Amino acid sequence: MAPHLEALNHISPDSGHPTVLHPNFNPRIKDWVPPDPLRKAFTPPQDRAFFADPSKKALLSVATAIPLTENIGTLLTGIQLSQLTPTQKDELALLVAERGVVFFRDQDLTTDSQVSFFSHYGILDKHPAQKDVKHVTIKGSSTDWRKDSAYTPWPLAGWHADTSFEINPPSYAMLRMEEHPPVGGDTAWVSGYGLYDALSPAYKTLFEGLHAVHTSRLQYETILDLWGVGPNRPPIDTHHPAVRTHPVTGLKSWNVNEGFVTGFAELKKAESDKLLDFANFHIHSADDNLVRWKWEVGSVAMWDNRVTCHRVIPGKYAPGSRRGVRTTVFGEKREYCFVWWCGELC
Ligand SMILES: [Fe+2]
Repeated sequence: MAPHLEALNHISPDSGHPTVLHPNFNPRIKDWVPPDPLRKAFTPPQDRAFFADPSKKALLSVATAIPLTENIGTLLTGIQLSQLTPTQKDELALLVAERGVVFFRDQDLTTDSQVSFFSHYGILDKHPAQKDVKHVTIKGSSTDWRKDSAYTPWPLAGWHADTSFEINPPSYAMLRMEEHPPVGGDTAWVSGYGLYDALSPAYKTLFEGLHAVHTSRLQYETILDLWGVGPNRPPIDTHHPAVRTHPVTGLKSWNVNEGFVTGFAELKKAESDKLLDFANFHIHSADDNLVRWKWEVGSVAMWDNRVTCHRVIPGKYAPGSRRGVRTTVFGEKREYCFVWWCGELC
């Protein structure tokens, strides 16, 4: 320890990571006062997949399931989501929990009916930058992310699980594409089950003993520049288990992502940095646990945000030509998590 350092006044306890603003950052963020308070942990309604018949006969008697890879991703054809019964919706949740992500083409959902459909799965979440109460608009990016990373501390194009820094991160998520370029803008998902299974026994033991520091601070500092909107809530650090067990499938899943994890709570800085390098390499080299989806207008993806990471593949398509509507619901709090926040943007 170096007790004379002013930086010690700006460190997230236990994580050891500084909380000062990036020096190149948009000064408007310094004056921004988030309108909403921080959230508290709560117990959401029980996961709908618990209510599903494991054979999924109600759903699979009307839909055709086409696995897109061995380990992640299934295309369901022959159905309209808007027509599913509650029983079929529960079975869809189980399929998503098992396969990580399930895809659909040519869906007739609207924003309102998507919100209604997704409300079956729990309490609708609200992204920190989301102004609408029930959904968030997702766009693409055609800027050079390798160059952009010189100006922002947040890995813009990085692999992530949506808002994994929350105390109750989303369980299920759905994205429906309303506008899309003919080529470019694909999204890829990686299986957390597969990432865990791919580790050696020694690394499995190592990661199972660690908590990953998930932070919204880097996104918080970037969001005003990137999306032009001030974040709703103050930044937060949350320590989630680096390996977690899915409540329904009982399978262990990797719970580290490039977009929001800045280190490991139990490690010294040098150890943490090197292990995070490995973690990011592990995700980026996971071709055997990856599915890449080409969007069309009317395409829908529903994924389990607890056991997958995803990223939009950066491209050169026309800015503004990609627009989707995303809905998420709150998941359960992780087995153990520690929360720290900086209400005064220190
Ligand atoms: Fe995302």
